[in-house]
Amino acid sequence: MEILLAKNQDIDGWMNLVCKVKENFPGLETADALKEHRNTVLGFIHKESAICAKIEDKIVGALLFSKDNNMLCFLAVDAEYRRQHIAEKMVSYMLKFLDPERDIIVTTYREGVQEGIAARAFYKHLGFVEGKLTEEFGSPVQEFVLIRHSTN
Ligand SMILES: CC(C)(COP(=O)(O)OP(=O)(O)OC[C@H]1O[C@@H](n2cnc3c(N)ncnc32)[C@H](O)[C@@H]1OP(=O)(O)O)[C@@H](O)C(=O)NCCC(=O)NCCS
Repeated sequence: MEILLAKNQDIDGWMNLVCKVKENFPGLETADALKEHRNTVLGFIHKESAICAKIEDKIVGALLFSKDNNMLCFLAVDAEYRRQHIAEKMVSYMLKFLDPERDIIVTTYREGVQEGIAARAFYKHLGFVEGKLTEEFGSPVQEFVLIRHSTN
């Protein structure tokens, strides 16, 4: 398995994975939304802010992040490859691109929602703590924050 920054030629494999996991993401329900998301991913690739996990050229994990906002924007692993620490490896790969003195934010499902069980357990495992209750694409979500302290 390799973890690397995605390139334009990865977009079809990336979108295959997104299609498999789209039920987990409010805002990806329609063909139009997926098309728009494809363009969004291409924008992140251009900014070197799209990380993928590959096994023999198949994209099995995908992560988008924002350097400006110190934010994890999208994270998914193919259901067949979960619990192999692939997401964990993608997050640690991301860390070297982010400001070590700023907290890292991610939004995910609120407590009590079936789809959010894995993600919430995952972020807590990494040391993220529960933050503000907000909304995204009209759905209730919660921020999780990884508090970072300067080592200088
Ligand atoms: C959340 C997700 C990305 C985790 O990917 P993953 O590669 O399976 O996660 P990892 O193997 O790196 O998990 C690391 C640790 O997190 C915790 N964890 C991950 N999934 C968990 C689950 N379903 N239940 C409980 N704990 C879990 C465990 O402590 C795990 O370590 P362990 O397997 O040694 O016990 C994956 O389940 C997924 O794609 N879900 C659907 C999409 C989604 O919810 N994305 C996030 C939305 S913001």
